Amino acid sequence: MRLAAIWKSPIFRKKPVKELLDSVSHEGGLSKVLGPVDLILLGIGAIVGTGIFVITGVAAAYYSGPALLISFVIAGAVCTVAALCYAEFAAMVPVAGSASRYGYAALGEIWAWIIGWDLILEYSVAIAAVAIGWSGYVVDIIHEAGIILPAAFIHPPGVPGGMITLPAVLIIAGITALLIRGVKESVRFNMVIVTIKLAVIVLFLILGITHINPANWHPFMPYGWHGVLTGAAIVFFAYIGFDAVSTAAEEVRRPQSDLPVGIVGSLAVSTVLYIAVSAVLTGVVSLLAFKNTDAPVAFALESIGYTWGSAVVAAGAICGITSVLLVLLFGQTRIFFAMARDGLLPGFFSTLHPVFRTPATATLLVGAVTAVIAGLLPLEAVAELVTIGTLAAFIIVSAGIIVLRRTQPGITRPFRVPFVPFLPVLCMLSCAYLISALPTITHLRFVVWLVLGLVLYAAYGRAHSTLQRMA
Ligand code: ALA
Repeated sequence: MRLAAIWKSPIFRKKPVKELLDSVSHEGGLSKVLGPVDLILLGIGAIVGTGIFVITGVAAAYYSGPALLISFVIAGAVCTVAALCYAEFAAMVPVAGSASRYGYAALGEIWAWIIGWDLILEYSVAIAAVAIGWSGYVVDIIHEAGIILPAAFIHPPGVPGGMITLPAVLIIAGITALLIRGVKESVRFNMVIVTIKLAVIVLFLILGITHINPANWHPFMPYGWHGVLTGAAIVFFAYIGFDAVSTAAEEVRRPQSDLPVGIVGSLAVSTVLYIAVSAVLTGVVSLLAFKNTDAPVAFALESIGYTWGSAVVAAGAICGITSVLLVLLFGQTRIFFAMARDGLLPGFFSTLHPVFRTPATATLLVGAVTAVIAGLLPLEAVAELVTIGTLAAFIIVSAGIIVLRRTQPGITRPFRVPFVPFLPVLCMLSCAYLISALPTITHLRFVVWLVLGLVLYAAYGRAHSTLQRMA
């Protein structure tokens, strides 16, 4: 009885799918310029970056060993099921704001807020962390060219001599300007840098494959299954980003068919590349060597004598990381945009630039906040927050699929996840397992963030939401 009363409380009010769709069909919305290839490239743009170019070394050396590819297969399988759930929602409710909108339709307003707040954490911290990684690579290349930059401008406070990580601030500023200028321009730029990073990965595979020494694959699992599973939680970061495709829903010409292709297609291409790269990487270099490098892919080429190849890979990694930044910044602004349109955030987040028709205020604000975080904080400690935020979003989206199939079976679903509820439940359990593999401090930080979000919802969103105003 009590439970039924709670379920009927205003915080669980749901937004009908039709209403979510109506909210975008008015005049003056975002420009519809994206097709399926743009979306696949956008997805690869967001997915392939720091994870493969930096994190693989740590995961191989300390957790997975040569079984790194198994860790990638496990994390990739979890992401594939999550991607199918995103694809069903994105085709059915093609609105900006991704998972937070799906939560609104299936589970109710409080969940829409929680998932939106969770995505803000995921994207903001990821943008800042990735910008700092970008800065590290660029500073390395400049150093190798013989130019020593003053420590004050390349390290955050807390590091000896550090004041601000200026390159991270500058790259965020540049991408913010590009995103305000226009989506089509941003997508064109993305296409160029994604092509370069894919070419660099293929180059690595071609150069590396003939130098594989099978002896390097023994022992295959030096840290056992536990190591392989922890490795999966760590390399999970490499897959984050395919969900960003769904944030572009309102800018897609034929969302019902193109969004599933974009989400699942970009994940499939990235998974195949990751498995191939991990096999070659652990085959050409002995594991121990990865303990001493932050750039394992470039390092592997250098160690088999391709110094030029290693420089090319480093340049490709910079391109790769730039596109991750571009798409994540884009995604973050669209999430703010959609939440503001629902009244859960102040209205200025959803105002469009009069000429460029992009959410300029939201973009500027996201750029400014993430630039401050990236410039002043050493982010290693909070990087796992990105992973926990994403895993939590996957759990809510999978639950949403099951709930909406029951509560609104009649809605047109251009794309359907197979084996419901089995696959979504499997996805929820695997995500919960991966969350449990993360450090306790990350769990605590995540809970603090959620509590902060609930306080904000109680203070603002609950009273201002469009559903409340219409009630
Ligand atoms: N998947 C993205 C990366 O690896 C976040 O950089």
